[in-house]
Amino acid sequence: DVPQVLAGKHITITAGPTREDIDPVRYITNHSSGKMGYALAKASQQLGAKVTLISGPVDLTPPENVKTILVSSAQDMHNTVMQNIKDSDIFVACAAVADYRPKQNATQKIKKSEQELTLTFVKNPDILSDVAHLPDPPFTVGFAAETQNLREYALGKLSRKKLNMIAANDVSNKTIGFNSEQNALTVFWPKGEKQLNIADKNLLATQLMKIVAEKFEETQTE
Ligand code: PMT
Repeated sequence: DVPQVLAGKHITITAGPTREDIDPVRYITNHSSGKMGYALAKASQQLGAKVTLISGPVDLTPPENVKTILVSSAQDMHNTVMQNIKDSDIFVACAAVADYRPKQNATQKIKKSEQELTLTFVKNPDILSDVAHLPDPPFTVGFAAETQNLREYALGKLSRKKLNMIAANDVSNKTIGFNSEQNALTVFWPKGEKQLNIADKNLLATQLMKIVAEKFEETQTE
């Protein structure tokens, strides 16, 4: 039952964390390992797609036959996605992008003093939302990492960011989600949803891309 729908299609995927510099030696990041996004890239490639993987700093080997571009900050990732998205049929945003970055990135190492240190943060661009709001957007799939109200927050992101689909994971559960081998996803689209039970990220990635293929095909025949 391997769908042919993705054969030859161009899929762009973001993966991993972003790294937001504070000064030349310090940064802020999160626990994303990149495993879920890399598994999606591999699964998409195996389903016949031409894949571009745009990855934050991770400890993983780039998948074979996937064009992998390494980036650091959310702004870098945003620029790289925007430069590469034009001929993409499908965009999957699996990266854990920092919502905020330090307002100042000090050019010299910040010195210790007797005072408290306060950092001010400014908002980063939302890559997923910007792609979905392009004049001629690709089929756009987001992720939602939630610690509570999974359904409500995921459905909020689906409609607010104008997505075709969103895959929500409960990141309060330490055995799944960030930096684990396994995950579980609830996938929502405007007219339905599907539960993908806890499994290895490689298996889940294939299951998710098959749902993407099915829903993408529906948009092609509408
Ligand atoms: O990398 P692993 O260790 O394998 O873990 C996988 C994962 C838990 C990181 C992954 O399954 C996941 O949930 N990724 C999305 C993490 C996230 O940042 O979720 P969010 O709910 O904060 O963001 C919602 C969506 O907007 C995501 O698709 C995100 O990529 C996107 N986003 C968010 C902020 C931003 N500035 N730009 C974005 O594109």
